Amino acid sequence: MESALTARDRVGVQDFVLLENHTSEAAFIENLRKRFKENLIYTYIGSVLVSVNPYKDLEIYTKNHMERYRGINFYEVSPHIYAVSDNSYRSMRTERRDQCILISGESGAGKTEASKKILQYYAVTCPASDQVETVKDRLLQSNPVLEAFGNAKTLRNDNSSRFGKYMDIQFDFKGAPVGGHILNYLLEKSRVVHQNHGERNFHIFYQLIEGGEEDLLRRLGLERNPQQYQYLVKGNCPKVSSINDRSDWKVVRKALSVIGFSEDEVEELLNIIASVLHLGNIQYGGEDSGNAYITTDTQIKYLARLLGVDGLVLKEALTHKKIIAKGEELKSPLNLEQASSARDALSKAVYGRTFTWLVNKINVSLAYKDETYKNASVIGLLDIYGFEVFQHNSFEQFCINYCNEKLQQLFIELTLKSEQDEYEAEGITWEPVQYFNNKIICDLVEEKFKGIISILDEECLRPGDASDITFLEKLENTVGGHAHLTTHKLTDGKTRKVMGREEFRLLHYAGEVNYNVNGVLSCTHSLCVVHPQVMCMSDNKILTQCFDRAELKDSRRPETAATQFKTSLAKLMEILMSKEPSYVRCIKPNDAKQAGRFDEVLIRHQVKYLGLMENLRVRRAGFAYRRHYETFLQRYKSLCPETWPSWQGKLADGVSTLVKHLGYKPEEYKLGRSKIFIRFPKTLFATEDALETRKHSLGERESHVSHAVVVQAWWKGILACRRARRRREAANTIRRFIKGFIYRHNERCPENEYFLDYVRYSFLMKLRRNLPKTVLDKSWPTPPTALIEASERLRKLYMQNMVWGYCKRINPEWKHQLEQKMVASEIFKNKKDNYPQSVPKLFVGTRLNGEEINPKVLQSLGSEKMKYAVPVTKYDRKGYKARPRQLLLTSNSAVIVEEAKLKQRIDYAALKGISVSSLSDGVFVLHVPTEDKKQKGDVVLQSDHIIETLTKVAICADKVNSININQGSITFTMGQGREGIIDFTSGSELLVAKAKNGHLSVTAPRLNSR
Ligand SMILES: Nc1ncnc2c1ncn2[C@@H]1O[C@H](COP(=O)(O)OP(=O)(O)OP(=O)(O)O)[C@@H](O)[C@H]1O
Ligand SMILES: [Mg+2]
Repeated sequence: MESALTARDRVGVQDFVLLENHTSEAAFIENLRKRFKENLIYTYIGSVLVSVNPYKDLEIYTKNHMERYRGINFYEVSPHIYAVSDNSYRSMRTERRDQCILISGESGAGKTEASKKILQYYAVTCPASDQVETVKDRLLQSNPVLEAFGNAKTLRNDNSSRFGKYMDIQFDFKGAPVGGHILNYLLEKSRVVHQNHGERNFHIFYQLIEGGEEDLLRRLGLERNPQQYQYLVKGNCPKVSSINDRSDWKVVRKALSVIGFSEDEVEELLNIIASVLHLGNIQYGGEDSGNAYITTDTQIKYLARLLGVDGLVLKEALTHKKIIAKGEELKSPLNLEQASSARDALSKAVYGRTFTWLVNKINVSLAYKDETYKNASVIGLLDIYGFEVFQHNSFEQFCINYCNEKLQQLFIELTLKSEQDEYEAEGITWEPVQYFNNKIICDLVEEKFKGIISILDEECLRPGDASDITFLEKLENTVGGHAHLTTHKLTDGKTRKVMGREEFRLLHYAGEVNYNVNGVLSCTHSLCVVHPQVMCMSDNKILTQCFDRAELKDSRRPETAATQFKTSLAKLMEILMSKEPSYVRCIKPNDAKQAGRFDEVLIRHQVKYLGLMENLRVRRAGFAYRRHYETFLQRYKSLCPETWPSWQGKLADGVSTLVKHLGYKPEEYKLGRSKIFIRFPKTLFATEDALETRKHSLGERESHVSHAVVVQAWWKGILACRRARRRREAANTIRRFIKGFIYRHNERCPENEYFLDYVRYSFLMKLRRNLPKTVLDKSWPTPPTALIEASERLRKLYMQNMVWGYCKRINPEWKHQLEQKMVASEIFKNKKDNYPQSVPKLFVGTRLNGEEINPKVLQSLGSEKMKYAVPVTKYDRKGYKARPRQLLLTSNSAVIVEEAKLKQRIDYAALKGISVSSLSDGVFVLHVPTEDKKQKGDVVLQSDHIIETLTKVAICADKVNSININQGSITFTMGQGREGIIDFTSGSELLVAKAKNGHLSVTAPRLNSR
C-alpha cells in the first residue's frame, strides 16, 4: 500500500481507512470510481477486500502475479485477491489456525470468479506431491461440475450460482492441499420448472442437448433441440451468445471423469436429467369430472425406462394424491392444476436431491484418504448469495437475506473483536464504537416460538386449513409490534401504497424488503413432494440413495425447508466462528455486464447492502493507519537526522524520535507495543509529502551512491568469478583423483599420473615430517608400492648420513669409550651371558686409584706406566683358596699384587691366551707358557667387572683374538706339567668352591635376560 500512497490523487487510496472523510458515502464511491477507471478493481477496508467486477479480462491473474504475492506482507503490494489468499494461507501455516474467506456480493458481482481465483492461487503456489496433484485437479474440476448442475443464466449473470457454497480446502503439515469438502445451501429448485423471461434452466440441460453424442441422446430419448422441452423454454432464451454449451459439455464430461465418476454413474446421472425433461413434457387433460389425466404415454414410457419404475405406478402418482382419512390411506384424484404442480414438485425434488447427491459424491472424491492427514489445517471458502431485493420477493429471497443478516452479524462481531484484540495486544485503550447491532433482526427471524420461521413452521404443520394468508395473519398477531416488521394492514398510509396485501416488510440492516407470502407454505412444506415412494422403488442407484425408504416409514412430521435452512445456517455460523475470517466484498459496477461502466446508483445501493460504510466506521473508530515500527521506520527514516541513514537503538525509540521530529501532536498518534497508530489520514499524507520532497534532495546523493554501487557490483562480480574458478578447479581435482584411484594399479597412464604423482608427493612430504631423529630410531614410514625401492635407498642414505654426522660430532673421550666398547662387542657379543648388562655401563679408566695401590708396588714398577688397575680374587692352584689381589695392567705386562708384594708379573708377550666361560660369572684364566720357569703356571682370577677387565687386558696386551670363551669347563696348567679344571654350571647365585673331584666348581647366577 505504501507504494501507491503518493499516487493517491489519481488512483485514490488503496485502503478506505485513509479516506479523509470516512463517513461520507460520496467520498467512498468517488474513491471506488477513481480506481475502477484505472482498472484498479481491488481496494481494502483494513483487511477486508472490496472487489469491483471489471467485466473484462485483466492481466492481473498470471503466474507472475501469483509469485509476486507469495509470502509478501499484506500491505507491501497493491490490494489483490491473491494477497488475501496468501495472507490466509500464511496465517494457517504459521499460527496453525483454520481460516475462512467469506465472499459476498450480489448476483454477478464476481463471487464465484473470486473463489475460483483463490483456488487457482493455492493450486499453483502451494507445494504438492504426486499424490496431491490429483487432489488439486479434483478441487479445480469440482467447479465446472457444480456450475453445470447449480448455475444458470439469469438476467443478472450469465453464470449465476443458484446455490450457496461453502468449501473447505484441507492442507497437510507441509502446506500442500490434500483434500476438500463442500457444503451446499438452498438450491433454487423452482428454476427446474420455471424461468423468468430472459433466463434459463440449469446449464446441464442445455449442455446435454447441445453436446451429448447422438447415441447418448437416443438412449435418453432426447432430441437435439431445447425448444422441444417445456422446462427449457419458459424464459424464451435457450441459446445465449456468451455461452457455448457444446464445449462446456466436454469440459463437464472430462471433469466428471477426473473427479472419479464411473461410466455407469454418469449414465445414471444423465438418465435423471433426461427424466426431468420428460417429466416437464407430460401433458394433462381434464375429464368432465375435473380430474386430470395424462394425454400421451410417450413420456411415461421413457420415464419408466430411464428411472426403472413401473409406468402405471408412476402414472398414478402423477394424477393422484394420498390422503389419510380415519387412519386409512386413500387415493384421491387430482385436478388439472394440482396435477401439474404435483408433476413440477416431483421434478424439483428429483433434481434437488440429485444435486445434493452430486455434492456428496464430489466430497467422497475430495476426501483425504490418508490417516496421517487427520490433523489437516483448513481454509474455507464461502461463496454465498448476497442481499437480494426484487420487485417480488419470495420465500427464497427471505432465506437469502436472512443468511446475509447472519453473516453481517458475524462480520461485525468478528471485526470488532479483532480490532479490540489488536488494541489489547498493543496496550492501547479501546474506545467503544457505536454501530448498529442487527441481532434484533436475526432474532425476529429465528427466535424459538416467536420468530418468523417458528410461526411459519407452526402454520405448515398444524392441522386444518392453514394457508399463506393465515400465516400472514399469525405474523401480524405475534410479531406485529416489532420495530423491524410491518404488513400492509399494520403500516401507515404512505408505506401501504407501496406494499401488496399479501406482503410483509422486513427492515433489514441493509434496507427494507417486502416479501410476498404467496406460495410460502407450499415451498416450505416438504410433504408437498409427490409420492416419494415411487422414487424409492426406482432401479436408478442414484435415486435410491436420494429417496431413502426409511424416510417413508418415519411417521414424524418432516422438518420444513425453512427450519432445515435455519439449522444448516446455524451450523455454517459455527464453522465460520471456529475459524479466522477474511472478507471479500464483491461489487457489480453495472447491470449491463459491460466493462468500464460505473453505475453510481447501483454501486451506492450495494455499498449500503454490503454494510461497507458500517465496516469502515468500525475500522476507523480509533486510528486510520497502523504499522509495525520496523516498516514505518524503514519508510520514513530519511525524514529525521537522528534516524537517517539508520537507527541503532530500539525500534520504538526510533519511531518516537522520528514522529517528534515530524511534529506529530499527541492526539494524532499512539505508540503500541509493536506498532504505531495514526489517527488521521492527513497526518500520514503530510508525512508522505515530506518524503516525496526528501527523495528529490536525496536523488543527487543517490547518484553518487549508484556509482559506488556499480563499482561494488564489478568487484563483487570479480570475486564471484574467482570463487567460481576455484570451485571448478577443485571439482576437476576431485574428479582426477577419483579416476586415478580407480586406475592406481595400472601402469602409469594419463588417467592415473595425477594420482600417482600425488601419492609420491604426499609420501615424501610425510617422510619429511617423520624422519628418524636418532641413529637408534628405526622407524620409517611405509612407502606406496610405486616407491618401495626408492624408499629403501633413501633410508640407507639417510642412515649413513646420520651416522656420519654422529661420528663427526663425537669427542675423543667418548671415542675412546666407544672403541673399547667395540672391542668388548667383538669379543663377547652373543658369547658371554653377562655381556648385555655391561653394554650400558661405561668403562672406567681404572678401578683403583693411586692411594689404593701400595706405594712400594708403584715404586717397583718404576717408570712403567700403569694403564688400569682392578681388585680381583685369585684362586690358589692347590686347594683353590680365594685370595684378594690387585690386577695392574701396565704398558708391558699384567701384574698381580698382594698388598706391597708383586706376586706375579706376566709379560704380554708371554701371555698365551685368556679363557672365560660363556656364563655370567667373573672367573677367567690367564694362560702362561709352562716352560717358563719364572712362572708358576696359569693364573685363575675373578673380577666383578669381567667384561671391562678382559677388554682392557685384550687391548693392553693386544690379545683381542686370544680370548677363548668356553662352554662347560676350562682346563689350565698348574706348573710342573699338571693340569687343573674349572667346571662351570648355572645356578641361583655365584658360588666358587673346590669340588669333590678336585675341580674348581663355579656356579654362575642365571640372569633374567636369558
Ligand atoms: N475478476 C474478474 N475479472 C474479469 N471478469 C470477472 C471477474 N469477476 C467476475 N467477472 C465476470 O462477471 C461474471 C459474473 O461473475 P460471477 O459468476 O463470479 O458472479 P457471482 O457473484 O458469483 O454471481 P452469482 O451470485 O449470480 O453467482 C463472470 O462470469 C465474469 O464474466
Ligand atoms: Mg456465483
